[in-house]
Amino acid sequence: MKIVVAGTGYVGLVTGACLSEMGHNVTCVDIDERKVQTMKKGISPIYEPGLDELLKRNYKENRLDFTTDYVSAYKDADLVFIGVGTPEREDGSANLDYVFGVCKQIADNVENDCLVVVKSTVPIGTNDKVEEFLKENVNNDVHIEVASNPEFLAQGTAVKDTLFAKRIVIGVESKKAENTLREVYERFNQPIVVTNRRSAEMIKYASNDFLALKISFMNEIANFCEIVGADIQDVAKGMSYDPRIGNKFLNAGIGYGGSCFPKDTKALHWLANDNGYELKTIKATIEVNQNQKYKLFRAAKQRFGSLKGLKVAVLGLTFKPGTDDLREAPSIPNVRRLLDEGAEVVAYDPVGEENFKKIYPTEIEYVKSPEEALKEADLVFIFTEWDEIKSLDLNIYSEVMNTPIIYDGRNCYAINDVKEKRIEYHSIGRKAIFNIEEARSEVAATRM
Ligand code: UDX
Repeated sequence: MKIVVAGTGYVGLVTGACLSEMGHNVTCVDIDERKVQTMKKGISPIYEPGLDELLKRNYKENRLDFTTDYVSAYKDADLVFIGVGTPEREDGSANLDYVFGVCKQIADNVENDCLVVVKSTVPIGTNDKVEEFLKENVNNDVHIEVASNPEFLAQGTAVKDTLFAKRIVIGVESKKAENTLREVYERFNQPIVVTNRRSAEMIKYASNDFLALKISFMNEIANFCEIVGADIQDVAKGMSYDPRIGNKFLNAGIGYGGSCFPKDTKALHWLANDNGYELKTIKATIEVNQNQKYKLFRAAKQRFGSLKGLKVAVLGLTFKPGTDDLREAPSIPNVRRLLDEGAEVVAYDPVGEENFKKIYPTEIEYVKSPEEALKEADLVFIFTEWDEIKSLDLNIYSEVMNTPIIYDGRNCYAINDVKEKRIEYHSIGRKAIFNIEEARSEVAATRM
């Protein structure tokens, strides 16, 4: 069976690499010749643990190849996985131009009967449209069928999530397509859920949007905890023992980011509206997240009155640890606001610097360690819970900062640990502790 994967982003490349690791012959198609040459050397264009090894091994053992020559690739393909992006349009809907662009190339060139498998996250009903389009446009006398096979990998654990997936969802309209995909996934030895195509498409959106909802729910409860004097981490712990709730995705913070949750919540909400239905929970999820992003910025502005001229350290830029991806990272709009306020920003991130420089090449200073960023800073924002940041000795804050005032958007430190230090600490869903000014005036009062 000759498998071709269209697109070498997170979904396409990881899918291609993992399918070849399981013994299939896979060709990955991308339009970028330089990227193709890099991948042939076993260097992944994306930062993803374990991926380089898979590329190297399977390319060397001739199971995995990369090409820009889509004409030859699609010509004798038995199976084409579409893993190209479906970015958000201005109105929130999903942009399917890349998906249909690939379909046109397949239709023009395929000479074998072929199963086209849509892995990209696409609005419900898209697989039907893709099949219609392929059948209308196909050049040769071949049978083309379409199946939905959504991807559930998370960035930073993409290889593991694919090789040891919790489930494989297959959306098909024929037994033949089901059997082909069962054969593809046989060696993965994971539970397979077979549905029709529309249900499979919905499973993907419903899963992502449910997780986003869970986060927004916890963020709202966290905000309310601050008002009523409860502690969100204790609350989450108490909730987590209930197996119906589970112990994952209960971490309150400054909101979710990344390439999926923001886009997929908006896309489903848009699609529902387009069908005359209002998804109220998804609408609330989006609104809460939008608001949550600026929670700490607003708190700092209130605390200082103005941030003009202050030296602000920023620890963590990426949307979550374990990735260099900045898509929808809360750091981006927050840094914008800090700069608009006239603050001087010094940032540290273990891997996100290069990408952040594409957005803010000269407006902020980049440093190579958290300590350097904190040096003489008036306050610090923590946007990503990298290990380097979580494991930082708390004494550093009071030792090197001008005033040790922390705005921790990821609840990196235990309240009891911070309490022992003379640090002003603002976090999410927990009471702020210590106030530098009050402490200073107390000291002054005792000296009088
Ligand atoms: C997500 C899904 O997990 C994955 O199944 C899907 O295929 C793609 O989207 P990803 O975007 O890589 O994966 O990251 P994930 O680890 O899910 O985190 C998404 C965002 O939620 C991050 O910004 C993270 O910081 C935030 N988050 C996550 C929280 O704020 N609290 C949590 O408890 C968990």
